[in-house]
Amino acid sequence: MNMHILGTGSALPSTVVTNDDLTKYMETSDEWIRERTGIGSRHLSTGETVASLAIEACNKALENAGKKAEDVELILVATCSPEMMLPCCACQVQAGIGASKAVAFDVNAACAGFLFSLNTAYSYLKSGMYKNALVVGAEVLSKIMDWEDRTTCILFGDGAGAVYVEAAEDEEDTYSFVQHSDGVKGMVLKCGTRDLNNPLYKGEEQSKFVWMDGREIFKFAVGQIPVCINEAMDKAGLTKDNIDLFILHQANKRIISSIAKRMELPEDRFPTNVERVGNMSSAAIPVLLDECNRNGQLKKGMRLVLSGFGAGLTFGASIFSW
Ligand code: ACO
Repeated sequence: MNMHILGTGSALPSTVVTNDDLTKYMETSDEWIRERTGIGSRHLSTGETVASLAIEACNKALENAGKKAEDVELILVATCSPEMMLPCCACQVQAGIGASKAVAFDVNAACAGFLFSLNTAYSYLKSGMYKNALVVGAEVLSKIMDWEDRTTCILFGDGAGAVYVEAAEDEEDTYSFVQHSDGVKGMVLKCGTRDLNNPLYKGEEQSKFVWMDGREIFKFAVGQIPVCINEAMDKAGLTKDNIDLFILHQANKRIISSIAKRMELPEDRFPTNVERVGNMSSAAIPVLLDECNRNGQLKKGMRLVLSGFGAGLTFGASIFSW
């Protein structure tokens, strides 16, 4: 069994917010943000939801693949910023696109969420349980940002990306992956939800906004990701010379440049869009993949590495042929 990505789609909120626009709301500058992160603008929701963006991305992915929603068997939505705890976003997507036969559930592995979901879809397909899936990364992070914390809120953007995948009876299985979690170091990037407050017990109040130790995250990403990608290439029996493009989580440009440097690879093998969309957590990889697909950068037979990393800590790398 092999898994093919047959279609991609993405959706971004209509409102673009530049670094200069942010100076209206906080003490910052285009120069500071660009120099440290490579980010120039991001899309922020003015009413779009995780579910509405995910639905739009899925409809585009199905159209791109030439497939019908009613034939979809599995829907996985990776998100850490859903509107609702119940029902899950994937079930809202199922209803929104009319995929009545599909089984649908969410996955939360933060910025590695799309990658872990894609690996989950692959495992289901390989087991023979389902023949196809829609895998989505969707976030409206602007609602969980502390807009008074200028070190963090300037990094993130809202959006969604989706892929339609199908099982194929090829002779060679070209999909492989490695994934890891390190909960011991997890509290360097966190966001609380509701406090415990029942008739028997009132818990301590916790922040409902994202808090991050930026320097620790930087060290984690630059230290672990080259090792993780090398591990995935070893597992697949490949070297960096066999890989055409490295599509990494778009946390910030400095992280991606440092990873390319450590791997002794030219930066043009690492496409980026973080300059225009910021860090969209689980949506980052599928939105970039969709852009590369639609602008003709992906040619049949190309070998791609996807690598995600983020809160948890969670990180991984997947390799497959386009
Ligand atoms: N505008 C202007 N000045 C600012 C801003 C801002 N937006 N934010 C912070 N500053 C100031 C600080 O107050 C500080 O001033 P001081 O020296 O007078 O105290 C100064 O700039 C330096 O602040 P630091 O926090 O030390 O800045 P640093 O150089 O570490 O850069 C950054 C911060 C960009 C967050 C960096 O640590 C980084 O890139 N970390 C990676 C984090 C990341 O990408 N996370 C993404 C989420 S996780 C994921 O997706 C994997």
